[in-house]
Amino acid sequence: MSHLRHVLSASQFDRPFLDRIYRLTNKIRQFDKSKEGLMYLQSLLPHRRAMLYFTQPSTRTFLSFQSACHILGIKNSEIRDTATSSEVKGESIEDSLRTFSSYVDLIIMRSPVRGLCDRVAAMLDTSDRPVPIINAGSGPDEHPTQALLDIYTLQRSFKDFGGIEGKSICMVGDLKRGRTIRSLSRLLTLYPGAKLIFASPEAFRIEDDLRTFLKSSMIEFVETVNFRDAIAHSDAIYMTRIQDEYDVCAGESSKVDSSQYCLKSNQLKEMKPNAVIMHPLPRRTELDPAIDKDPRAKYWRQERNGMWTRVALMTTLLGVDEKILLPEL
Ligand code: NCD
Repeated sequence: MSHLRHVLSASQFDRPFLDRIYRLTNKIRQFDKSKEGLMYLQSLLPHRRAMLYFTQPSTRTFLSFQSACHILGIKNSEIRDTATSSEVKGESIEDSLRTFSSYVDLIIMRSPVRGLCDRVAAMLDTSDRPVPIINAGSGPDEHPTQALLDIYTLQRSFKDFGGIEGKSICMVGDLKRGRTIRSLSRLLTLYPGAKLIFASPEAFRIEDDLRTFLKSSMIEFVETVNFRDAIAHSDAIYMTRIQDEYDVCAGESSKVDSSQYCLKSNQLKEMKPNAVIMHPLPRRTELDPAIDKDPRAKYWRQERNGMWTRVALMTTLLGVDEKILLPEL
């Protein structure tokens, strides 16, 4: 893979890149074990500034990126609501983002607008401040850094069971508008023998472009409306919520019966003993909180893995990754 300029889509990542990011992540977690290690990480990028432009709600992604900045000594600014920026005066999003590039060295952005990150990256590339962009969620389209942490979590969970290769990953819920599904499915094509099971109501099946991509990648996948039957065959169950913020008309999602796409604690006995349960969170009723106590529940780990994989990604983007891989602890 050529040098990473921006992180816009999961399709930019190849397997050697992922393997390297996860080696970095593991090393960074070693540094986290001591004060000296943490001080070393903080000494890597104190001369850098980042902008967190999150104009769509976010808890985990925002806080994990902000924490990742703190871990590396990066100073950060934020905009979380266009009502407090000049966009409210009629400034275009492009002009606003170009303005940020005057002040910072990295822009991390989440927006409800599909394709905005790509547009902004292309615009900055022709400007005199071509700062990198990280896509932290682009409407219903992509969420590449979530896919990074999801694969890391899967890899660690299957470390003693032959890795992700050959495993059946069942994705459940709103597969049409869930950006985490779109990005994760793309990355799973890099793991030979992985099989995807997409369980959703008819109305929320995966989009055509993803289906076409998966067919061309030769990965084995099935689409089903029958989640219950898939439970016993899955090595990972990846739950998602209904993305009703993208409803075209009010109440559209509530007309779809999604009641079968929930995981209840009484279904745990049907799962394989070494299977894992994941969710990008936030959850609603699709994932029973009583499941949290089950050792197969990995979603709280996912949150923390998100912070560490984002640290690894930023060190790569800002060119200090070698300073993490090289020193002996
Ligand atoms: C997801 C998102 O924003 O796409 N959350 C996250 O980033 N962890 C999933 C969701 O909102 O349902």
